[in-house]
Amino acid sequence: MSTFSQIETVLLDDAYSAIVILDQTKLPGACEILHLHTQPEIHDAIYRLCVRGAPAIGITAGMAYYLAAKEHVTANPEITPDMLTAALKADKAYMASSRPTAVNLFWALDRMERVYLANREKDNAEILALLRTECEEIRAEDIRVCRAIGEYGLSLVKPGDGILTHCNAGRLAAAKYGTATAPIYLGHERGYNFHVFADEPRPLLQGACLTAYELHEAGVDVTLICDNMSSAVMKQGLVQAIFVGCDRVAANGDTANKIGTSVVACVARQYGVPLYICAPTATIDMNCPTGADIPIEERKPEEVTELWYETRMAPDGVKVYNPAFDVTDASLIAGIVTEYGIAYPPYKEAFEAIFARKAAGEAIIGEESAQ
Ligand code: MRU
Repeated sequence: MSTFSQIETVLLDDAYSAIVILDQTKLPGACEILHLHTQPEIHDAIYRLCVRGAPAIGITAGMAYYLAAKEHVTANPEITPDMLTAALKADKAYMASSRPTAVNLFWALDRMERVYLANREKDNAEILALLRTECEEIRAEDIRVCRAIGEYGLSLVKPGDGILTHCNAGRLAAAKYGTATAPIYLGHERGYNFHVFADEPRPLLQGACLTAYELHEAGVDVTLICDNMSSAVMKQGLVQAIFVGCDRVAANGDTANKIGTSVVACVARQYGVPLYICAPTATIDMNCPTGADIPIEERKPEEVTELWYETRMAPDGVKVYNPAFDVTDASLIAGIVTEYGIAYPPYKEAFEAIFARKAAGEAIIGEESAQ
């Protein structure tokens, strides 16, 4: 059995001017493919979590920017650079409003805008070709980056270990390996025989619907637990390491990830289990000094009160608080695994060193084997 499903998370279908995604709201029951053509369709798919997870959101946003430019140029071949610049600025602001926490969304849109602005005086066909290459590169780069994170992550564990992961930072959240699942997939290919616990975060259950689904499909030994069970498995000594993803890492190492990650981190500290954040540099926001500066998405109360139930399970009119993410304090994090190696405290200095290597164009580990 091949480790990876043949169904891609996000692809650009340029011939049909569409982003093709696997609708994650339908998993694990059905593999439904969506073709997103318009900016509102793409915005809605991100907001409704049809495509979700920080890297996949960034990849989708990059493709959305390209499709927006293509739409303007096709509708009006005489469009001037000023008109196109104004139109793309509005499209970018609109797409940026789809979700607030994953910095990859803004990172990808800024990256696409930089390419556009540097080339805005060129002819339209050339601009479109450059934008298409850039959004495809964001996707291809994610595969290389996640694989490198997998190599570094794998160096932190040993064969037979129990590994806990929270929410879904897997292939469904990225282009291929995922971030937190990358060490698991590489270990699986190398016969490490990990025992993985997929922590199911309420209210949306990404651990159950997505992580348990993709790891089970890949033949990994995975056990699903509700997100109030992580203490039980850690207390029994069943977990040697925790790998989680992130939506935004602040400059001091504070990390926003799916709601409940900070609970896992507190429990892990109690039982001496190291918690590692798997973070592509695209998810590290040096403009955000601490976790208190990270905007946290709040979602509809109905996700808590009735989403999975035949009948509503909470009294009508009761107040509901539904933050989609929480911030894990840097002090609870054993290390932050990036494509340039593992950052250890003090994180700000470690990140500065990593970004200097990135700016110098240093190659990342295993680039040649990642496609
Ligand atoms: O609300 P979601 O499903 O988009 O939240 C996803 C997470 O919290 C992931 O852990 C994070 O985006 C990292 S994905 C590699």
